[in-house]
Amino acid sequence: MAMTEPGTEQTDRPRLLTGDTPTGRLHLGHYVGSIENRLAQQGSHDCYFIIANTHALTTRAAESHAVRDDTVSIATDYLAAGIDPDRSTIFIQSEVPAIAELTWFFAMLIGYGRLMRNPTVKDEIVTKELGDSYPFGFLMYPVGQIADILAFRPAVVPVGEDQLPHIEMTREVARRFNSTYAGVDPQAGDKQHAADGVFPVPEAVVGRVGRLIGTDGKNKMSKSLDNAIYLSDTAKQVAKKCNRIFTGRMSPTDPGKIEGNPLWDYHDAFNGDKTEVADMKQRYREGKIGDGDCKKRLAEVINALLEPMRGRRAALESDPDSVTRVLHTGTARANAVAEETLWLAKSAMGFDFFRRQVRLS
Ligand code: TRP
Repeated sequence: MAMTEPGTEQTDRPRLLTGDTPTGRLHLGHYVGSIENRLAQQGSHDCYFIIANTHALTTRAAESHAVRDDTVSIATDYLAAGIDPDRSTIFIQSEVPAIAELTWFFAMLIGYGRLMRNPTVKDEIVTKELGDSYPFGFLMYPVGQIADILAFRPAVVPVGEDQLPHIEMTREVARRFNSTYAGVDPQAGDKQHAADGVFPVPEAVVGRVGRLIGTDGKNKMSKSLDNAIYLSDTAKQVAKKCNRIFTGRMSPTDPGKIEGNPLWDYHDAFNGDKTEVADMKQRYREGKIGDGDCKKRLAEVINALLEPMRGRRAALESDPDSVTRVLHTGTARANAVAEETLWLAKSAMGFDFFRRQVRLS
């Protein structure tokens, strides 16, 4: 193997950054919303995957130890899903200090009113039932996320639909920084920002399915709503959960509804045999096929997707240190890039007093 400092390897592949807040295990919504895109792009892009453990504290400050466990479990999910640590960088947010420092600088470039109008922030206050008792840090998290992203100066950021407002703010801050400190014309196009600024104006890429409905048929798939099928579920659990999908249909001879029915959203998302799906939908509409058969077939296609992950997961679980090693190498690489970015940002600001390095032990 070539002897290069981690993170200094040169690559022509455009950089990609995305990640997850460790709130528990990854589910099928994460898979179609983003993981699948990451797997497809690890060959063509230089990928960075952040496990946003500091963000998890915005709603779980007293549960830091559980957040630590969830951090390792997300990394395990990534590797089981097929993210290749030799090609992609998986790292821990709290161990990259440049991100926290950039958060502070970026916080000066966003108006308070602008932040409070962010629809995802507003939605989360409602869906997470935060009332008016959320911590100040909760309002800081979108600023932190901007730093997560810009610290890596990525070209693309694959995310679920709900994250688009954050990416829009990221783009605004990149432009604002470049025009404030790097002399880029505030009206300049993205190309010029990439060429002359410190930060490129990154592009969001939404997954094939921006928002996957939960098995309850009501809400977005989510751990807290108990309506999720996890990448780590056993074949039996998948079959059971598929069986319980809420379709609202009373009898197998009733004409079935397709739109807004999670059973068919899932077939559309996971069953590659489009002719079979079209045919089953037709019979379902006409009351000629029961829910049971369609659910059974769905469980088969989901299990076919998850089966290879189960094998990789078993190998990882028999050697837990292997996950720690991946995180250590990844976090070292991430620091090399983020430190470089911080230096470029500080240089533009005239705060380039002393150069430094971050070394993990
Ligand atoms: N907020 C994202 C989520 O909850 C997770 C996240 C943190 C993220 N930092 C990021 C996603 C940077 C993309 C880029 O899903």
